[in-house]
Amino acid sequence: MAATIPNTRQYNARAFEDAREVPREVELALIGVVPQELQGTLYRIGPGRFNSGGFAADHIFDGDGLVSKFVIESGTVRFQSRYVRTPKFHAQEAGRGGQVRGLYTQARGLRHNAGQFPADSANTHAVVHAERLLALSDIGRPWDIDLDDLTTKGVCDFDGRLPRLTRFSAHPKIDPVTGELFNFGLDLAPRLGMHIPAGLRCYRVDPSGRLTTMGVVPLEDVIVQHDFAITERYLVFALSPIFVDPIKGALALAGFGTTGDAADYRPEKGMKIVLVPRDGGRQRVIECDPLVYFHVGNAYEDNGDIVLDVVQHESFEFLSTGLKTFRDGVLPNAAWPTRLRITPRGRVLREEIEMAACEFPTHDERRTGREHRFTYFTEYVDGSSVIAKLDHVTGEHRQHAFESSTTAGEPIFVPRSDNAAEDDGWILVLTYNAAEHRTELHILDAAKIEDDAVAIARLNGHFFPGFHGSFTPRVAVSKA
Ligand SMILES: [Fe+2]
Repeated sequence: MAATIPNTRQYNARAFEDAREVPREVELALIGVVPQELQGTLYRIGPGRFNSGGFAADHIFDGDGLVSKFVIESGTVRFQSRYVRTPKFHAQEAGRGGQVRGLYTQARGLRHNAGQFPADSANTHAVVHAERLLALSDIGRPWDIDLDDLTTKGVCDFDGRLPRLTRFSAHPKIDPVTGELFNFGLDLAPRLGMHIPAGLRCYRVDPSGRLTTMGVVPLEDVIVQHDFAITERYLVFALSPIFVDPIKGALALAGFGTTGDAADYRPEKGMKIVLVPRDGGRQRVIECDPLVYFHVGNAYEDNGDIVLDVVQHESFEFLSTGLKTFRDGVLPNAAWPTRLRITPRGRVLREEIEMAACEFPTHDERRTGREHRFTYFTEYVDGSSVIAKLDHVTGEHRQHAFESSTTAGEPIFVPRSDNAAEDDGWILVLTYNAAEHRTELHILDAAKIEDDAVAIARLNGHFFPGFHGSFTPRVAVSKA
């Protein structure tokens, strides 16, 4: 499959120029007409600046998290953006960026690296739950962001319920029926001699925002785990064998080499799929051939089988060295949708779907954990960006093409109404328009995805369209 997809693609390097925050709401110029029925707020996050106060990111993951909001109301779009006020951000503002150690970026001088956990850039996902906006990354704790003016309120530890030495990963899943949020985080405590099992700690956050630990997926070694899935009865973890190498990890801890570079893909170790029952009970572990993936599309139960959609990558280089060349606009490319079907007898069937390079799989979130018909992707065809829609029933694969100078981010589906059918609604997607060095919000009609955008809201500036985000029907209040 991968042989047909080029390994790298060219992105316009100017997208990664440092972005200024827009601390007061501005109304955006429009092309087309924003549908009156489309009301709510789109939150996005991604690395927005890479050079500050002596810090120069060697990897895209070490850019500072810029959270943005697009408020869509009565045919207008208002915009605002702010950087998350992490300790890394403050150190850079104070001119001490050279002392900051990132995930893939060393500080200057051994004493600023030795024994230092990588600084959190808070740049990976912006999630709305229990009337809170959380800015997340895999190595940090959640940041509580004001839903209206995007100021950083502080670390969210769920009223002290999030154990101090555990993480809260960047891809929580919200059950659309129960309103519960599920997530996991790497449990660091055993490495420091405490009496908590090593592993991935699983969390449930109820609709009022109260966090409880559901259990721990035990691990023999530290792994890199970015995403997971839920079904109506399970949390589903596909543990790709991406391990923190013990020697490189120890050297990194001592300050020699970055923490990120200590991870290695070890296919000979195989892959484990772990099913964690949502209502308690024994975990089920299925061993299977390994694959490299970072993002899950959706999962569901089908007559006793578990179906799990992922985007498979050709190699682990994607994450490690492949994203270090972002300043040259060269990004890794070779990835394609793969459906895993786990049978009650523990067989794992694999279906690989022929597409051009794709990433950022999303679906109608009213179908999370339930069978979904459509998956939306960002896809790159012959070096150009498209939004793709895959119909899992017919196998049909349709696309929305952009101008050649435009690069698209993650598509987010918004239903036309609460009871609208799947795919009856809009796709919201941020793009970087290289010809004009500006970022834009494109609103597409999902059912007519090939058509021109229904509306385009245009910024007077740019920022990298980012990694992930969320839409909520709540209209953010302007505090300007
Ligand atoms: Fe992600």
